[in-house]
Parts: sequence; C-alpha cells; structure tokens
Amino acid sequence: MPMTVSTIAIDGPAASGKSTAAETLARRLGYLYFDTGVMYRAVTLAALRRLGGVESEEDVVQLASSVVIDVRPPSIDDGRAYDVVLDSDDVTWQIRAEDVNRSVSVVSAYPGVRESMTRQQRRIGERGHVVMVGRDIGTVVMPDAEAKFYIDASAEVRAQRRYDEMIARGDEVKYLDILISIINRDQIDSTREVAPLCMAEDAIHIMTDTMTREEVVDVMLTYITEKEA
Ligand code: DC
Repeated sequence: MPMTVSTIAIDGPAASGKSTAAETLARRLGYLYFDTGVMYRAVTLAALRRLGGVESEEDVVQLASSVVIDVRPPSIDDGRAYDVVLDSDDVTWQIRAEDVNRSVSVVSAYPGVRESMTRQQRRIGERGHVVMVGRDIGTVVMPDAEAKFYIDASAEVRAQRRYDEMIARGDEVKYLDILISIINRDQIDSTREVAPLCMAEDAIHIMTDTMTREEVVDVMLTYITEKEA
C-alpha cells in the first residue's frame, strides 16, 4: 500500500529560507503551513508590551501560559501568509520588528515558555496534513514526522538574503549589523539547554547557498513523492 506523507517537519537556522520553502511546499501539497516561530515572536511582543522587557523568566513563562495566540488564514491581502492574533489583536507585522528579533532568542530559551508552545504545536501537528517549520520540530515537537528536512545556508548568505529583503521593503539597515544579529541568534538557538537547534538524525540536509527557492522545493517534493511511491 502506498503511504501518504502527512506530517512534514522543516527546521533550520534563522533566515535560511525555510519558511518561504515550507509555505510553497504546503501550497503545492494542499497542506496547512504552520510557522512555529510566530508563537515565540508573539510571546516576545507581549512581554515587551506588557512587562517592558523579557528579563524576568518567571513573568515571561507566566505570560506565555496565559496569552492566546492564534494563527489564521490571511484576512488582508498585504503580502502576509497568515494572520497572527495575540489575544484579539492583529500583530502579524509587529512580531517582525527589530526589538522582537533582538529578544526572541532569549524568550524561546526559557524552558517554561517552550513547554507551553510545544504543547500547542503538537496538538496542531497531530491532525496531519501539515508542514510545520521551526528549530526543534523534527527533534522534539514531531519526532515521528514522516518527512524531515533541515534547510541550511552559511551565515553570510543568510545575512545577504535578509539584507536584500529589508532594503527592498525600504528599511535602512547595514549588512554587517544583520550578519552579527544572525550569528548571535545562531549561537543562542544552538546552545540553549532545552530543544536546541540541531538536525534530526533522520532529516534530509539541504544546503541552499547556491540553490534557488524553486530548487529547494523541488528537492523536498521529489523526496516526498519517492517516499510515497
Ligand atoms: O524562525 P523565526 O526567526 O521566526 O524564529 C524566531 C525565534 O524563535 C528564533 O530565535 C528561534 C525560536 N524558535 C524556536 O526556538 N523553536 C521553534 N520551533 C521556532 C522558533
């Protein structure tokens, strides 16, 4: 009997292009696209707004267990792939602000925050027909996912891609600042004690430095189709 690959886990470092690739893959398969990073970003934004910072682990963990974060189909046609709603507030773009970028690695390293988020993510993953993206999906959130990919690129290439995106949006940024911020986030994400960024043993490693987005999606689709055959 041919099998259906229903749960797909995609992990990788910041700005590796995993979200765009996952979104395209989900569309091609007709699956739900679920970017778990938005949940950590929404908690970070809530902490910055309501606690004035993210330093108090106890307060941030308490906040993470009480806020309601929802990811819904897009309600506005402004380039968004989904709406992110924090307690009834649309925060889709606010969670991408630089102050959130700077603090989100600290928040996502708090074990209590991860516990709340992982629980919610598993509930969605278990329904199947999902492409879930993050740092620990193949290793912790969905260790039994039927296909796992680790999408990677060098820090320099990732910084250049992020820089080009921000300049195209009209932001004033410096390449070196972005590179340093990416290296810092890699360091925090991969050395934290709980669920650090690392590749699952059974994941397919895709190094994208010289690949186009379409090529990355093609590699994943080919793998899935072969697995289902
Ligand atoms: O993918 P992103 O840049 O939106 O992720 C934001 C932060 O959340 C990043 O510092 C890593 C963290 N994260 C995580 O620890 N686990 C996940 N499953 C997803 C994101």
